[in-house]
Amino acid sequence: MSESNQSVVLVEREGRVAILTINRPEKLNALSQQVRDEMLEHLTALENDDSVGCLVITGAGDKAFIAGADISEFDGRSPMDQRHAMRIPRLYDVMSTFPKPVIAMINGFCLGGGCELSMSCDMRIVSDQARFGQPEIKLGIIPGGGGTQRLPRLVGMGQAMRLILSGDMIRADEALRIGLVDIVHPHEELRVKTLELAQRIASMSPLTLKVAKESLRASERLAIEEGILYERDLFCLCFSTEDMKEGVSAFLEKRQAEWKGR
Ligand code: COA
Repeated sequence: MSESNQSVVLVEREGRVAILTINRPEKLNALSQQVRDEMLEHLTALENDDSVGCLVITGAGDKAFIAGADISEFDGRSPMDQRHAMRIPRLYDVMSTFPKPVIAMINGFCLGGGCELSMSCDMRIVSDQARFGQPEIKLGIIPGGGGTQRLPRLVGMGQAMRLILSGDMIRADEALRIGLVDIVHPHEELRVKTLELAQRIASMSPLTLKVAKESLRASERLAIEEGILYERDLFCLCFSTEDMKEGVSAFLEKRQAEWKGR
């Protein structure tokens, strides 16, 4: 069977966590059009699935998270072909605005479009064997999945310039030091530790998670004064929910809260 007839994104469930695995290990999980299309299909289904509270995105095999856009698809492309391939909605934007937390579980090479995809996630939890970079410059292109915009916001302009202009790869400890990633685990513990955190997050009220993410994401586009006012409005809106009443009652009654998502 040709690859196009096989799924290149696998979905598993562990409790309230859905794990999406890009499954092209022989191509280091490069982001082909098929991968992007299948990811978008799964995200659309998972958005409306109340049994899922948190997503984890990872790559199949031991070597790569995602080694970038599929370079073989660039060959012979016209600018209009490329524009069509980059049609809206873009996977990166769907992930950053997805109404549930999305964790990148980075198990190996995290390059180019893979690094950009990870930066669209809400957290990056990584193996100590992972490597990071934006090597597009070596192909005569620049990052096209938000890299020139999201990378400087995470690591500052100087480090973003260094990575994008040199195409150099860095290791997990350096990625942690400059703020590109959030937690580094020994390679063999990555999945267990990441899923523990994902389950804890997924056990919170889905409604409150959604509002918290929305407020955090607003900080990327609003000036601080506007952002503080926006947060105040969302905070007050929480007082209209059954989950807020339940959370407060559960604390006062010294019991576990039972969220309704309302
Ligand atoms: N697009 C398409 N195919 C890719 C790919 C990509 N981004 N990255 C890796 N592959 C393929 C290789 O062509 C090779 O396929 P083949 O076995 O059919 O020849 C396979 O994945 C394994 O990669 P290989 O290069 O042999 O592994 P390596 O361990 O020697 O090197 C990397 C690993 C990540 C350093 C190297 O694959 C690489 O530089 N990849 C491209 C990274 C990049 O430029 N990404 C940005 C794209 S915009």
